[in-house]
Amino acid sequence: VAGDAAEPAPVELRAAIRGTGSVRSFLDRPVDDEVVHAILDDARFAPSGGNRQPWRVAVVADAQLRRHLATLMQPVWDRYVAVGATGATPYAWGGHVPDDAPHAPNALLDGIERVPVVLAVACDLDRIAMMDAGAGLERPPVTAGASVYPFCWNVLLAARARGIGGVMTTFLSRVEQEAAAPLGLPPRHALAATIFLGHAERIPSRLSRRPVDAFASRDRFDGPALGGGSS
Ligand SMILES: Cc1cc2nc3c(=O)[nH]c(=O)nc-3n(C[C@H](O)[C@H](O)[C@H](O)COP(=O)(O)O)c2cc1C
Repeated sequence: VAGDAAEPAPVELRAAIRGTGSVRSFLDRPVDDEVVHAILDDARFAPSGGNRQPWRVAVVADAQLRRHLATLMQPVWDRYVAVGATGATPYAWGGHVPDDAPHAPNALLDGIERVPVVLAVACDLDRIAMMDAGAGLERPPVTAGASVYPFCWNVLLAARARGIGGVMTTFLSRVEQEAAAPLGLPPRHALAATIFLGHAERIPSRLSRRPVDAFASRDRFDGPALGGGSS
């Protein structure tokens, strides 16, 4: 719940883990730089491989730069919506991405100038151990992101602790080559996420997630359901 000027009520850890839903529209209320700093000051305690802390953050306030980024992200979103409408997972490995797609509205992109906080999160590729890259596996590497996404999630949890909601997005990564120069992305860095933050009417806390037995099994992935619990 968005607090007033007073400190928001503390959120118990399990409640925060289980109830930090995405917020994509925000109250017309600024988030001060001190608060952004404090959120990042909490988030930096995220784990990373070898504790190399590869993250970099650009706090994007410039309205023209934001609009430029939104213009780059919009076609990525349009294709996402077009593929999603077919029932397929958009941008899945080996999946079809259409050359063109009709414009799809997106509250974050349409009103990017009014989003209280826009964070571009990059990671230094020279600080990431990519265990499954270049290993001859016939699939894309997935471990690289593991050293930066816990940080991103910490940003959302640290925001939540302050009554601030938000959402992590990845569409900017798709147009990294175009976004690199305007963002001053250093060489050998990758754009990992764009995080939008702000005060919300309320932060959704009843989330829809699969139950444990839908994804956890005993000994092997094809083993029996773990059982023994309730949610
Ligand atoms: C890696 C990642 C990428 C995401 N990309 C987007 C995105 O591009 N746009 C968006 O609106 N939400 C994005 N999300 C938010 C998800 O849609 C959201 O976490 C999921 O649908 C669960 O919804 P809930 O938070 O309302 O329960 C992303 C989340 C993650 C973790």
